[in-house]
Amino acid sequence: MASFKVLISDHLHSKGLELLESAEEIEVTNSPGLSKEELIEAIPAYNGLVIRSATKVTAEVIAAAKNLKVIARAGIGLDNVDIPEATKRGIIVMNAPDGNVVSTAEHTVAMLFAVSRNIPQANSSMKQGRWEKKKFQGKEIYNKTLGIIGLGRIGKVVAERARGLGMNVLAFDPYLSPDQMESLGVTYSPLNSLFMESDYITVHTPLTKETRSIINRRAIKRMKDGVFILNCARGGIVNEDDLYEGLKEGKVAAAAIDVFENEPPEDHPLLTLDNVIATPHLGASTHEAQEAVATDVVRQIIDYMKTGTIRNAVNVPSLDGEELMLLSPHLNLGEKLGMLATQITRGGLKKVVIEYVGEVGRLNTAPVTVSILKGLLTPMLEDGVNFVNAPHIAKERGIDVRTAFKEEGAYYNNAIILTTTTASDQSRLVGTIFGKRQPRLVRINAFYVEAAMEGHVLLVYNMDTPGVIGSIGELLGKHGINIATMDVGRVLDSGQNIILLETDTPVPTDVKRGLLDFPHVNQVVALEL
Ligand code: 3PG
Repeated sequence: MASFKVLISDHLHSKGLELLESAEEIEVTNSPGLSKEELIEAIPAYNGLVIRSATKVTAEVIAAAKNLKVIARAGIGLDNVDIPEATKRGIIVMNAPDGNVVSTAEHTVAMLFAVSRNIPQANSSMKQGRWEKKKFQGKEIYNKTLGIIGLGRIGKVVAERARGLGMNVLAFDPYLSPDQMESLGVTYSPLNSLFMESDYITVHTPLTKETRSIINRRAIKRMKDGVFILNCARGGIVNEDDLYEGLKEGKVAAAAIDVFENEPPEDHPLLTLDNVIATPHLGASTHEAQEAVATDVVRQIIDYMKTGTIRNAVNVPSLDGEELMLLSPHLNLGEKLGMLATQITRGGLKKVVIEYVGEVGRLNTAPVTVSILKGLLTPMLEDGVNFVNAPHIAKERGIDVRTAFKEEGAYYNNAIILTTTTASDQSRLVGTIFGKRQPRLVRINAFYVEAAMEGHVLLVYNMDTPGVIGSIGELLGKHGINIATMDVGRVLDSGQNIILLETDTPVPTDVKRGLLDFPHVNQVVALEL
C-alpha cells in the first residue's frame, strides 16, 4: 500500500508528473482544475498537495486537510496559500523559487516590445482583413528610460536585458543601496523620481501591504504624459481602477498586463480598452520554466518523504527532529528580531552583526543565523525567501553578515543582539527567551522593553508626559482597535519613551495619522511580526 498520497491540483509539467509517479511509495492523483468544494472534499485523503497559482489553499482547505504534511508550489508566488494557517497546523510549505525567473523576465521584455509596437492589436486587425499601417505606428524603446520597481531576481534579469537593448534603467528597491544597484549597471532612484522620469514602468515585487497599489492614481499623476505601464508580477500592485482611469484619460499611453487581482478576470474593464494588451498570467508559462519548477518541487517532495530532508520551505528550517526541538525557540526569536530590524531600519541593508550571548551561543547557531537572515529579508521578499535561499540572497545583495559570541551578557545570559546598518541608519535589538520558549524583545536601540513580538504591533515614539498612554488607547478604542498587550520602555532623563502595542487587527493609515497629530507623539511605525 502506498504510504504517501499526493494530489496535484494545478497543471504540472509532464516531466514533474512522470518523476512523481515513478517514485516508490508515492501514490499520485492528477486532478488539475478542482473546484473549491471538490478540493475540500478530496484533501483529507492526501499527505502532499502540489499547486501552481490557480488553487487557493485557504484556511478552510487547510482545516479540512487532516493528513496534509506538505504543500509544494511549482513556482514562486505563495499568495494563494494561507501560510500562517499551514504553519499553525504544522504543514510545510515549499516553493521552487529559481526555475521561472528568466521566463518571467523574458515575458516582461516581450510585453515591452508588444506594447510599444502595437503587435497584438496589429495582428488582430490583419486577421480581420485590414492593413492599418498608419494606425499602428509605434515607439522605439532604444534610449528610453525604464523604471523598475523591485530589483529582486526577476527585476535584475529585466534590467540586464533592457540595458542590452540600449535602455536607461532606473530602479527603486528600498532594500538595495545605490552602490549595490550601480554594480548592476542600474541607477538608483527614489520612487517619486522614478515615476517622474520613466518612459516605461514595470513592477517586479511580491504583493505585500507595502506594494499593494504602489502604482495608484497619485503615482500616475506624477508620471510623464504617455507613460507605458507593465505588470507581470502580481495583480494588485498596479491599482486596476486607477490604471483604467489613467488609460482612459490618455495620461498612460498603454499598459501591458499579465496578472490580475482576480484570476481569471471576468468582464474586466481594462480588457475593453484598445491601449491595453493582456496575457493570462503567462510569465512563467514556458516549457523550460515549467519543467524546471515541476521537477524541482517533485524532487523536494520525494526527498522530504524519503529522508525527511526539507528544502526550499518558507515556514520551517532544514533540520532533523531533535535539533529542531532544541533550537526552535531561538529560531523563532531570531526570525522575529530580523523582521523587526528591517521594518525599523531605513535604507538598504549593508551590514548585519549577530552576537550570541551565553546559552544560545553554545548551541548550533548556524540555523539561527539563517533564521535571522530570513526574518530580515521577509518584509522585502515575502515568499521569495526561505530557510534555504536566505544566506544566498543576503550574499547576492552584498550584505556583510558577521557573527560573534559572548560568554556573558550585561543583563541576560541567554540573548541575541542584532545590529543592522544601512548607509543612513543603524538599529540595535536585543532579544531573549522567557521561560522555555517565549521570545521577548528586551531592548530596542536605547530603550529597554519587555515585549512579545507577535502579529500586528504598533511602535510609537513619544515624549514621556502624563496622559500619553490614555490618549493613545482612547483613539484606538474609538476606531474599534483592541489592544492585546502593551509595553512601555523609556530612556531615563531623555524625556523620550517608546510604546509597543500589540493589536488584534492592523492599525489603518488614518488612525496612524491621528496618533501623529498628538503633540507628544514623534513617530509611529506599524509592524507585522
Ligand atoms: C509564480 O509565482 O511562480 C508565477 O507567477 C507563475 O505562476 P503559475 O505557476 O500559475 O504560472
